[in-house]
Parts: sequence; structure tokens; C-alpha cells
Amino acid sequence: MLVMSKLMIANWKSNKNTHEVAEWLVQFEIEYKSVVALGKLVYDVVICPPFPFVMQVGDWIQKTHFEASVSLGMQDISPFASGSYTGAVSGQNLIDLNLKYAIVGHSERRKYFKESSLDVSKKVESCLEEHITPIVCVDTTEIEQQADFIDKKHYKELVIAYEPVEHIGTGIAQDLGEVLAAMKSVRVAFPGSRVIYGGSLNPENIGQFSTQSEIEGFLVGSSSLKADQFVEMLKA
Ligand code: PGA
Repeated sequence: MLVMSKLMIANWKSNKNTHEVAEWLVQFEIEYKSVVALGKLVYDVVICPPFPFVMQVGDWIQKTHFEASVSLGMQDISPFASGSYTGAVSGQNLIDLNLKYAIVGHSERRKYFKESSLDVSKKVESCLEEHITPIVCVDTTEIEQQADFIDKKHYKELVIAYEPVEHIGTGIAQDLGEVLAAMKSVRVAFPGSRVIYGGSLNPENIGQFSTQSEIEGFLVGSSSLKADQFVEMLKA
């Protein structure tokens, strides 16, 4: 059986400017090489920058030859293919950049941009048409509804990020027992999907989660903003 590496996804949200992105990449490159040299890397890394920096990060991945273990992701995607949809960024727009993942349905999109589970399911379709793996974010309240809106035949192509809203950006991750219980519900609703956790992970608390085989990866916000902290999490 093929054993997949766990995912470690950096979601920078609407942070950083060009200069700060360049600094992050320089520092990450140095520290990441030392982790790789130790031969203990168990993660596939995904970096999801704000849209203006997607090309900068994509070029850097090619230049550093990190493609085998570092991938480019976007934080959102248009529910439409290319065309007359002002302001929207489609998977086709980024086709040359070797984009592998897109976060869809993050709770901040659901809250501030009023995205519904139906909207999210359209973005999932958009991703799959362009061979981009959707990282579908759900909290317990929407697990079943979100599953109903997505064609079952696609479940095995999805990453489901279980993200309890009250633990996002608070500095306090959810209790491990609660995370594992919620993940069971996710697996019942989305059989065959990869299931990961996100919410206030940091280098200090990730250890208790990373040793759990049921948790197939992590979505990291605040602690991904500093390259040294993010690399520290790869070692934990
Ligand atoms: P956080 O964000 O790590 O800052 O809690 C996680 C997320 O929003 O995906």
C-alpha cells in the first residue's frame, strides 16, 4: 500500500508584502534544507500565499528544485472557469504555475464573504476540472451539509480540513480527544478523503497531534507567517 506523507499547509491569509515574502523564502530555504538533510522529513509542504505572490512562490519552488516535497496552493479559487468574472482568479489563470492545491470554504470565507456550502461545492468542481486538489475546510456544524453538496465520486480526491472556528487564531488548539472525535465524524461523512486538522497549531503544541496516525496533516495560519516557526513544526 502506498503510504502518503502527511501534509503541512501554510495559509498566510492576507498577510505579507513582496519584500516580506522574499525574506520568508530565503529563510525557509536555508532551514528547510537542514531538515531535509536530517532525513526525517515526514511532510509534504504546501504554501498558500495571497494571490499577488503566487507567482513569486511558484518561481521559487522551481528554482530551488523543492518540487518533490514543496507545493504551491491558493487560498481560494473562482467557482468559474476563465471568462468574464471580474476580480475572480480561476485555476486556468494559474495553470502554468504547477499549482497543486486550493483551500476552499475556509471559515473566514464563509463568515466574511458569506460563502455557502453550495458555493464551496462549486469551487471544489472548479479545482477538480483543473487537477487541483481541493482542501475543503469544515467545522462540525457543516460537515454533513458540505458532504451532501459534493458528488461522492470525488471524495477520494479531497483533503478535508477539520477546523473548529472557536480555535482559529486564538492561540489555543482544540483538545486532542475532541479533535479525534470530530475527525471520526468527518470520515463517516467523507469516506476516502484525507483528513487534516487546523486551529492554533504552533511548534509547542503540534507534537501531541503529529504522533496521531488518524491526523493526516495540518493547516497552519499564524504560525506559518514566520519561516523559522513553520520549519520548527516540520520537526515536531
Ligand atoms: P491559525 O489559523 O493557525 O492562525 O489558528 C488556522 C486557519 O485559519 O487555517
